Amino acid sequence: MTRPLSVAVAGLGTVGGGVLKMLRDNADIVTARAGRPIAVTAVSARDRSKDRDVPVTGLRWYDDPVSLASDPAVDVVVELIGGSDGPARSLVEAALAAGKPVVTANKAMLALHGASLAALAEERNVPLAFEAAVAGGIPVIKALREGLAGNRISRIAGILNGTCNYILTQMRERGREFADVLADAQKLGYAESDPSFDIDGVDAAHKLSILAALAFGRPVAFGAVHVEGIRRVSALDIAFATELGYRIKLLGIARRGDGGVEARVHPCMVPQSAPIARVDGVFNAVVAEGDFVGRIMLEGRGAGAGPTASAVVADLIDLARNRLTPVWGAASAALSAAPSLPMGDHVGAYYLRLMVVDRPGVIADVTAVLRDMGISLESMLQRGRSPGEAVPVVLVTHETKESAMRSALDRIAGLDTVLEEPAVIRIEAG
Ligand SMILES: NC(=O)c1ccc[n+]([C@@H]2O[C@H](COP(=O)([O-])OP(=O)(O)OC[C@H]3O[C@@H](n4cnc5c(N)ncnc54)[C@H](OP(=O)(O)O)[C@@H]3O)[C@@H](O)[C@H]2O)c1
Repeated sequence: MTRPLSVAVAGLGTVGGGVLKMLRDNADIVTARAGRPIAVTAVSARDRSKDRDVPVTGLRWYDDPVSLASDPAVDVVVELIGGSDGPARSLVEAALAAGKPVVTANKAMLALHGASLAALAEERNVPLAFEAAVAGGIPVIKALREGLAGNRISRIAGILNGTCNYILTQMRERGREFADVLADAQKLGYAESDPSFDIDGVDAAHKLSILAALAFGRPVAFGAVHVEGIRRVSALDIAFATELGYRIKLLGIARRGDGGVEARVHPCMVPQSAPIARVDGVFNAVVAEGDFVGRIMLEGRGAGAGPTASAVVADLIDLARNRLTPVWGAASAALSAAPSLPMGDHVGAYYLRLMVVDRPGVIADVTAVLRDMGISLESMLQRGRSPGEAVPVVLVTHETKESAMRSALDRIAGLDTVLEEPAVIRIEAG
């Protein structure tokens, strides 16, 4: 039989442990599909004495992960440490510079340094594979880069963070507020003790910038992604969304327009009839729209040892088979120079919820501001009557420009009958 592919794994946590387990438990089918065995021969983690699910005795151990890059008996380096810089980046750079193929699950590193890492990989003519970096077990990288390669992609939209989707699902199903559900999610291990990367939308933005680069054949532009998280989504808005026929989802959306590419992560109201609206709990989903294929949706588990290992092992099988593709689907010289569009240029419909004093003339003041900004209303909803007290008023607009909506909101927030900062959620097709 052909010589095994000799693999070094840096990081033996959730994902690293899962990869070792999958390579062990599914060795027969992995070998058949790779055309040769895939053998982990060297590893690195912080604590050598830690009890691990999959034993690492007999494997070469490195305290310094960067040393894996210079081990002459290693064919491929798998980076599963995490963090955009530090040892993860040093290892990946060292491995590529040494001409060793790299597999990584590190979306933060790819979002921030994807361009320079791809340049290095291209210069050395070595593959850099990252199926596990976006949407865990869903093979979305392969789908965009290979399965849909003949299409001009016009839009991608995804539920890219399972923690946020879990929190929003629980808020809807239980009618509970964000802070309570987050505290429960942390107790259950669905949210980190420092959840900000997830709930503030940064993790989803990392993934969106990777998907947008692949979908539109352009360099990663994380800095150009407009990012909002879910902290300000309230149980009241979720209830109104249901009443109006929508679900609230944190979506990452990238769209190719005439003048460039728009990329944004924020809570969206999606029609309940859209397939993505029914993706609940910790599940992820990605919708892609191509000129020949039409619309497709992929759904599955976006995190966890098993799903993420599934993606890492798929990359290893590709490497064992010598199936190679450029990092971003095309050589860097062939990437598009389409500019990133500012959020102010976004055009869409909006949901606004205001807390206003219940007295005559208040609604007229609000609608006058909207009229002055050229924003027309599709519907309005007012619940309950309590003269002199605060009542919610919900307005749904027709399509308008984000910059016009922001100016209108500044003026509406300044009205003395509007009691809180307005809640604003963009409406999206799904
Ligand atoms: N968890 C998921 O579901 C998931 C899904 C998709 C992508 N990812 C990505 O996969 C990567 C790994 O995530 P994870 O959840 O597996 O992380 P994790 O459970 O925290 O594991 C990190 C591993 O890296 C090791 N490590 C940390 N610093 C090190 C250093 N300086 N030198 C050597 N080893 C070091 C740790 O060693 P010790 O074990 O000795 O502490 C641990 O084994 C991240 O980039 C993450 O974004 C994770």
